[in-house]
Amino acid sequence: MQAISQVPRLSGFEMVMALSSALDLIAPSVVGHHKRVAYMATRLAAASGLSGELQARVGLAGALHDVGVLTREQVRTLHDPRVASDEDDGHGEFGDRLLASFEPTAPLAPLIRHHHVSWHRDRPETGRAPIESHILHLADRVDVQIRLDGEILGQVPGIVDGIVERSGTSFAPDLVDAFRQLAEQEGFWLDMVTPGLDALLGGMLAGNSLDYALTFDNLLGISRLFSQIIDFRSRFTAAHSAGVAIVAQTLARELGFSPEDCDLMRLAGYLHDLGKLAVPAEILEKPGSLTQDELWVVRKHSYYTDKVLRTLSGFDTIRAWAASHHETLDRKGYPFRLGADRLDLGARVMAVADVFAAISEDRPYRSRMLGAEVLEVFDGLSAARKLDPEVIGILLANQDVLRGHLETVQQAVAEGYYAVVPSGRSDEPPSDNP
Ligand SMILES: [Fe+2]
Ligand SMILES: [Fe+2]
Ligand SMILES: [Fe+2]
Ligand SMILES: [Fe+2]
Repeated sequence: MQAISQVPRLSGFEMVMALSSALDLIAPSVVGHHKRVAYMATRLAAASGLSGELQARVGLAGALHDVGVLTREQVRTLHDPRVASDEDDGHGEFGDRLLASFEPTAPLAPLIRHHHVSWHRDRPETGRAPIESHILHLADRVDVQIRLDGEILGQVPGIVDGIVERSGTSFAPDLVDAFRQLAEQEGFWLDMVTPGLDALLGGMLAGNSLDYALTFDNLLGISRLFSQIIDFRSRFTAAHSAGVAIVAQTLARELGFSPEDCDLMRLAGYLHDLGKLAVPAEILEKPGSLTQDELWVVRKHSYYTDKVLRTLSGFDTIRAWAASHHETLDRKGYPFRLGADRLDLGARVMAVADVFAAISEDRPYRSRMLGAEVLEVFDGLSAARKLDPEVIGILLANQDVLRGHLETVQQAVAEGYYAVVPSGRSDEPPSDNP
């Protein structure tokens, strides 16, 4: 089959910005938090005389700094301006380990690890927290005090007083001085609450270490990192996207897709559940049945996959394949109720791959399915014209090979998972619930 799509041409920086937007989906109250912190941190780094390269590194780290936050409870605590900021709940360490596992983002990892360390507890000369982490800490604490529903300029004196009060304790005195000067500029505050912050950051961080056109291998690597950020939030889903990626790629090959499109299918598999960053770990790990509210939160995730991937140029095909994985041929899927006439073969492949990977994994409320159970699920989906019967036929004909691929991937990912997740989360016993 002739290639129907082209490898997207975009930079690692654009991918990081997309991930940064996705991280804020976990709670409506924190929309824009990562990018405002990136902005303030970059300005503070410049005002403190850091080199252009370090400014860009601080900015990138700001854009991803809470990548290790898993639960809404953590978000509530971290964004409560009354709560002390140096309580370590482990999200800095988890974020560090996630980003350290991928070479291009590894330089950001140590900055993120220490972004809640107070100045008086850990001075840079002791060699633990770099000054860049203290910059992130200050920027983060400023942002949690900003009320987006009020006039920002009226809030400035109160925010500045609160920061100055903690100079020499929570925050480095030199950084507080730099912040006071920046805070005098109305533009400093208005930049953060005026639409267009993405473009502004693009200019400020131009030439950063991820601002280069990605090769396909780079793109695959960064997408694999994303899949881990999405899936390591729960041990039940730790290998899910990697499993979907390999199954979808193999099915595409069996269906005669070009080698290029098979590769794109793999990439789409890594990214298909990107919107799950909006689903807190409390829900992903819940052993019992979900409440109606929780079900609605889960139901939003593929919409968010679509929304975030829409911001990336050249991603139309990948987005269509990735974000349609809960759509059905009978127009009863979600989030767009597309139906048979609007679901191309790639989207149909992804939907089948997603179900196969999901039912082959343990969940808090049931064990993985095998053999006859798998057959029964797909017979039902085929008979009801939910998913494509031809794709299902190919899946079932190759079930053993696909299961082998899935198990290899699950094993490889599990090793990475146990190396990365904070202790105490990785060794929870499996639930006995059916
Ligand atoms: Fe944080
Ligand atoms: Fe934060
Ligand atoms: Fe999904
Ligand atoms: Fe999925």
